[in-house]
Amino acid sequence: MGHENPSGSNIKITVATDTDAASSAGDLDTIARRVERISEENQHLFAQLLEGERRFRRLAKGVWKVQEEERRRLALELHDGIGQTLTALKHQLQRLEDRVDPELSQAFAELVDIATGALNDTRELSRLLRPPVLDDLGLLAALSWLQRTLQQRVGLEVSLSDDGFDDQRLDTDIETLVFRVVQESLTNIVKHAEVSKARVALKREQSSLTIEIEDKGKGFDFESKMSAGGSNDSSGLRGVRDRLALFSGTLSVESGKKSGTRLTMHVPLPENDKPGG
Ligand SMILES: Nc1ncnc2c1ncn2[C@@H]1O[C@H](COP(=O)(O)OP(=O)(O)OP(=O)(O)O)[C@@H](O)[C@H]1O
Ligand SMILES: [Mg+2]
Repeated sequence: MGHENPSGSNIKITVATDTDAASSAGDLDTIARRVERISEENQHLFAQLLEGERRFRRLAKGVWKVQEEERRRLALELHDGIGQTLTALKHQLQRLEDRVDPELSQAFAELVDIATGALNDTRELSRLLRPPVLDDLGLLAALSWLQRTLQQRVGLEVSLSDDGFDDQRLDTDIETLVFRVVQESLTNIVKHAEVSKARVALKREQSSLTIEIEDKGKGFDFESKMSAGGSNDSSGLRGVRDRLALFSGTLSVESGKKSGTRLTMHVPLPENDKPGG
């Protein structure tokens, strides 16, 4: 409440009275209620955000699974469709090779070679699209197959170690995820690192899986390659990071000109994938 200044000047002196105290308590009450309402709204928005993110992940995982399913179907189609046709063609040519005139027999031998080459390419493409060993025997067997293939095809010597698996398989989606990220990382080593050796180490722990992929090659600047301004032609490493994120996994990259490149990935394991689970 305002009181007249006894000196007669126009300055007002404000003295708090009981009524003022009551009204400020009321103000405080209002503010407290507003703060409470705002925090409730925040909680609600946060929950909505989380739900949105969960839905997005579910959707993105769904797209990814459809893509893998499509690869599996194509691989089978290539193997059983074109693959079988080429096998029949090759056998037919081989049969005729013995019967034709000697001057044509050389030409037939060449046709057999071409058919054999096409058949091998088809089988290899089919396996690269989706190695059946991944579905039949699991991640470790599929990685051994990849190790052999890279050694034979491009001379990359991969040392492969697994720790804590005890012959147990992982969730199918996680096995596919790990196979794909290792496949992309090793392909990158072949394409960019300029080395003939690489190391892949898997470690299965209580609630997570760690994957390390290392080379002693020429290295690169990860941040600039992954930044928005980086080349849009490259989608491999971004794909690795995004796929891992779908499974709440992480990717970290250490790379330097003299030290080579080391990718470290962590993937949380679903409850029933924990060792002994
Ligand atoms: N192990 C490595 N050693 C050296 N450089 C690498 C290595 N891995 C990746 N890089 C560099 O990072 C870039 C991005 O890799 P990324 O896999 O995203 O693309 P890419 O291999 O060029 O193309 P894509 O994978 O889409 O076919 C590469 O172009 C290369 O310069
Ligand atoms: Mg790549």
